[in-house]
Amino acid sequence: MAKDVIIACDFPSAAETLAFLDRFPGEKPFVKIGMELFYAEGPAIVRAIRARGHRIFLDLKLHDIPNTVKKAMRVLSGLDVDLVNLHAAGTRAMMSAALEGLTRPDGTRPLLIAVTQLTSTDQAALEGELLIEKPIGDVVLSYARNAAAAGLDGVVCSPLEAGTVHESCGENFLTVTPGVRFADAGQDDQKRVTTPARARELGSDYIVVGRPITQAADPVAAWERCRKEFLG
Ligand code: C5P
Repeated sequence: MAKDVIIACDFPSAAETLAFLDRFPGEKPFVKIGMELFYAEGPAIVRAIRARGHRIFLDLKLHDIPNTVKKAMRVLSGLDVDLVNLHAAGTRAMMSAALEGLTRPDGTRPLLIAVTQLTSTDQAALEGELLIEKPIGDVVLSYARNAAAAGLDGVVCSPLEAGTVHESCGENFLTVTPGVRFADAGQDDQKRVTTPARARELGSDYIVVGRPITQAADPVAAWERCRKEFLG
């Protein structure tokens, strides 16, 4: 898939989501559906957005025993989405099982990427709570290598990590990166942010952008600006 901007549709209901997407009369943006919307509206919202012609990243971050994840992925493979994810912390065995479950009888499947460490986890929590006594950057890279070894297509990471992930796992290994803000805007609750242009320079394949587009006075203009800066 070619590089693009993915809009994080973090809305609580189908009505609000579809009203937002109605504002895009022309080309259909690539959208991310997360836990809040999926748990509220179920598979019907995925089908509704798909029927409107959008590409979809279903961001449900699965993490359970391999057999359970495999069976859940089998269900998700019927939803005709483009991209799904899980936690790399579930181990290579879980990631391999997920791939198996996701692959349809005809051999096709959505792309599968792994969350390495959540950006809300800092070094103190990593050491004090998870008992992982390594620099967080090393942990992210090691989990990315596990995902690559299991045959996954990429990871969710910070744009700041995209370069090292590509160096270690290959140029074709996807880096899907949130934490993007326009140069002239605030950061909200994101800690380490980059602009769309900087994310491009750093080698991100997809940037995930929520509030700078969903809360903009003119979301279509914000999306177009974001694509222009990111795609060059
Ligand atoms: O509004 P904003 O641009 O901050 O939205 C970013 C999106 O990316 C949200 O849906 C958020 O949950 C998601 N995300 C993130 N950081 C991660 C993983 C996902 O911000 N490490």
